[in-house]
Amino acid sequence: MKLIEYEQYMKDITTGIFDYEHAKRTAHLTYWLAIHADCTSRAAVNYADAAFWHDCGKMLLPPELLNKTEPLTEEEFGKIQSHTGLGFDYIENSNMPNRNMRADVALFHHERLNGSGYLGMNGKAICRAARLVAVADTFDAMTHDRSYRKAVSVDQAFAEIKNNSGRLFDEKYVDALSKYINCK
Ligand SMILES: [Fe+2]
Ligand SMILES: [Fe+2]
Repeated sequence: MKLIEYEQYMKDITTGIFDYEHAKRTAHLTYWLAIHADCTSRAAVNYADAAFWHDCGKMLLPPELLNKTEPLTEEEFGKIQSHTGLGFDYIENSNMPNRNMRADVALFHHERLNGSGYLGMNGKAICRAARLVAVADTFDAMTHDRSYRKAVSVDQAFAEIKNNSGRLFDEKYVDALSKYINCK
């Protein structure tokens, strides 16, 4: 699938969980956080590019599952969780630019520093790009409506992420997020 087709696809499905706007906002915030965490602009562009694709595995899941408003069964939750592996396989089997970073971010963006993420990886074993995108993705997801819950305020979302700084999220990128909040 070419980028333009991917963009069209995302505009078409526009689900509560995975939509084009979420992908764009997460990419934008990832860039901002990277720059303010002292990454080079070249690295920041690559991180942002990978962030845009982070949930691409969801395009391989049925929209009715992604849009479900009732609580998910264990099986359904497992299917949703599989979007990381689906995204990784999709990217790995393509000849996309920035493929390795996109694939890593797709696979690892739900990992958390203390090992409580999907695959149970922890600390610096999680690649830097995925640690960065995890902060941007979580903040964006919390501050926008999802199919199963309403958005929380920017202050509430930041407080929760800050509370988990160093435990779930990389402190370096949480600090960059605090700069983002303060200059809004
Ligand atoms: Fe995700
Ligand atoms: Fe996401």
